[in-house]
Amino acid sequence: MSELAPPFKAWHDFAMMPSTPVHPVRIRRSVLCVPAANQRAIAKVASLACDAVIFDLEDSVAPEMKGEARQNLADALSQRSPAAMETIIRVNEPGSAFHAADMDCVLACRPDAVLIPKVEEPEDIFAVLDRLAEADAPESLRIWAMIETPKAILNLTALAASGRTQASRLDCLVVGLNDLRKSTGVLPEPGRSYLVPWLMQTVLAARAYGLDVIDSVSNDFKDLGAFAAECAQGRAMGFDGKMLIHPAQIGPANAAFGPSETALREAEAIIAAFAAPEAAGMGVINMDGCMVERLHLAEAEVLVHKARMIAEREKASR
Ligand code: COA
Ligand code: MG
Repeated sequence: MSELAPPFKAWHDFAMMPSTPVHPVRIRRSVLCVPAANQRAIAKVASLACDAVIFDLEDSVAPEMKGEARQNLADALSQRSPAAMETIIRVNEPGSAFHAADMDCVLACRPDAVLIPKVEEPEDIFAVLDRLAEADAPESLRIWAMIETPKAILNLTALAASGRTQASRLDCLVVGLNDLRKSTGVLPEPGRSYLVPWLMQTVLAARAYGLDVIDSVSNDFKDLGAFAAECAQGRAMGFDGKMLIHPAQIGPANAAFGPSETALREAEAIIAAFAAPEAAGMGVINMDGCMVERLHLAEAEVLVHKARMIAEREKASR
């Protein structure tokens, strides 16, 4: 995917704010998880419209299949074209019997990122960082981290802040509610009401340190109405996208996390209003009875930029 450098003055001001991303804007509406042991699913990925794919070596792969799964990835990723969708490999957690061989697989496959499950302390991230540095992995190989244990929620600030240390590669947090429910006893109720405080805390921590943040998987891939509602909730909470388990979930996720037509028209109107000669030097303007400030202009520019990236991607995949 191309990383368009934001050319906008207001975007630059926005990017200088401490709570906004320091890495390029990426489109991560739909992040599909694919068990690395499933060759049929791996083969299907190229035909799918998801923004990113996580090839999983962890929970979806039985212990006796780990070696075969790594080999599948070596075969599949060696044929990958550079412009293909963002590719992530989820390894088994540092300290597990499978982790070292999984990291060797990552270093051989050179995905865009390695996803570390069950991180609890910054040291879990630093261990992977050290391994990548030791192997001279390119800067472009990034780290994502799963927030899916009670300790991770309690340590969110330190975990997210570790993304701001020198030479850090941490780009993105991904919430894992299956593990979090298992270890806390919170029931899978509609609306996720008892989980919302932890979800919001994860969004807040990610934003405080300029990281992207992806909402958890939803296990029921047949009830797409309920899934669309959960995507809308995730979007309203501020998530960048959703981790998915099934191709049927890609369309609803892309729709919910992409800019709506209405939002795009509003953003374009804000940009036009600030570009008008009468707005020169003004920090705040009146648009049809609504106060609009330059921070809204910066937001509008990011939204239009993302919409262009999505359109570019759709054109390229046609
Ligand atoms: N990625 C790519 N393709 C997938 C897929 C996925 N995650 N899930 C299903 N498919 C494919 C199937 O291979 C099948 O392809 P085909 O038409 O060529 O046979 C098609 O989509 C329809 O699949 P379906 O029959 O509806 O489901 P299934 O029984 O094959 O698989 C799951 C259901 C849940 C086992 C499967 O979706 C899956 O493994 N999901 C990911 C699980 C995971 O990664 N868990 C860890 C993170 S929480
Ligand atoms: Mg998990």
